[in-house]
Amino acid sequence: MSSLASRHHCQMFCTPSVYISPATGVLSTRSLVQRQRNSKIQTKIFCSFMEEQGSNANFGFLEKKPYDPPSWASHLDPIPSHVISLGHLPTPIHKWNLPNLPKNTEVWLKRDDLSGMQLSGNKVRKLEFLMADAIQQGADCIITIGGIQSNHCRATAVAAKYLNLDCYLILRTSKLLVDGDPGLVGNLLVERLVGAHVELISKEEYAKIGSVVLTNVLKERLLKEGRRPYVIPVGGSNSTGTWGYIEATREIEQQIQTGPGKTGFDDIVVACGSGGTIAGLSLATWLSKYTAKVHAFSVCDDPDYFYDFVQGLLDGLKASVSARDIVSIQNAKGLGYAMNTIEELEFVKEVAAATGVILDPVYSGKAAYAMLQDMAANPVKWEGRKVLFVHTGGLLGLYDKVDQMTSMLGSWQRMDLDESVPKKDGIGKMF
Ligand SMILES: Cc1ncc(COP(=O)(O)O)c(C=O)c1O
Repeated sequence: MSSLASRHHCQMFCTPSVYISPATGVLSTRSLVQRQRNSKIQTKIFCSFMEEQGSNANFGFLEKKPYDPPSWASHLDPIPSHVISLGHLPTPIHKWNLPNLPKNTEVWLKRDDLSGMQLSGNKVRKLEFLMADAIQQGADCIITIGGIQSNHCRATAVAAKYLNLDCYLILRTSKLLVDGDPGLVGNLLVERLVGAHVELISKEEYAKIGSVVLTNVLKERLLKEGRRPYVIPVGGSNSTGTWGYIEATREIEQQIQTGPGKTGFDDIVVACGSGGTIAGLSLATWLSKYTAKVHAFSVCDDPDYFYDFVQGLLDGLKASVSARDIVSIQNAKGLGYAMNTIEELEFVKEVAAATGVILDPVYSGKAAYAMLQDMAANPVKWEGRKVLFVHTGGLLGLYDKVDQMTSMLGSWQRMDLDESVPKKDGIGKMF
């Protein structure tokens, strides 16, 4: 292990690594029992270290602290007991100068894509509660599941490693690719760098077995090996994860109160993939005094599925409200989950070139595309409105679209150096 790596490890966990040989940097082949014992000791040391250090631990980052909900959410049940600081919060809000908006419509951006780098996007907010719960329950490893380029799985893998937990990812891919090395494109590179255990399944297996059974199969296997797994469902979307966007709404409210003009937003627009983000946002805007209308654009399944799913999350928090009364869900699936038309990718490119904001192709790219189509088709609905679009991150997913995008991105040429430019060896130092 390099001196930097071992120093970092000491700062974070106050114990030398028990898995990596200091001499060789290679994973040791200790017995399973010893690994389990060491893992338990590490988790214990880490937890008591974090608790002992209180607010000084890592200057707040990665700190686990008791959770205090907003007053307007204090009747929800269950309320998480703890939260771990994982995101770089609050994320900024700024005006987004999109072209071709209806008359007097303003669009602003909530930059949840800037909630961190490895841990970026909306998932980090859910993980702040889910990881705190995992640690409270004494877990020594995390299991989660998603598509082959799942942002949620990547964020979970990073968060787990920050907290000294192992991470097991079940990733869904095509049946043609399920038996081979999944490669290192986009989110996979980060997951594999942080040492997540990747298990592949085909889309057909996923469709027949379902994510709950698949994660349970892996959980049983790990329990038999003496591990203490904590399962996070697809997208981190359960009642505990919903608190992430209840808190985000409190954050937006506070930003409005201290921001220019102190005026709020009429509408909030966001992508919907597994439903947890819109559950938190719509419940919190309904409960708080903040009365914006929440519009979701679903990028997989159909709106009816999501109304039912969100209803389940709301009921799980004893919210006593109907999902259909607090959120409007429209279909933005297009060709299918994680599949893009050339027009959608052209749109991502045009928005980037016009505004500098890079949308991911799977979630916010599709949601923003569908929002602008809706604005063009129904301008009266949006005229004069102040809209907050929540950019939920997912930049790494764009790397999976490189082949499709290559032909649309021009602007390069060999620099022209004619004979009149003097050339002499040794003049230009590289650095
Ligand atoms: C980048 C990104 N944006 C949006 C979403 C959708 O959020 P949710 O799963 O909470 O509906 C996801 C995950 O599904 C995501 O990875």
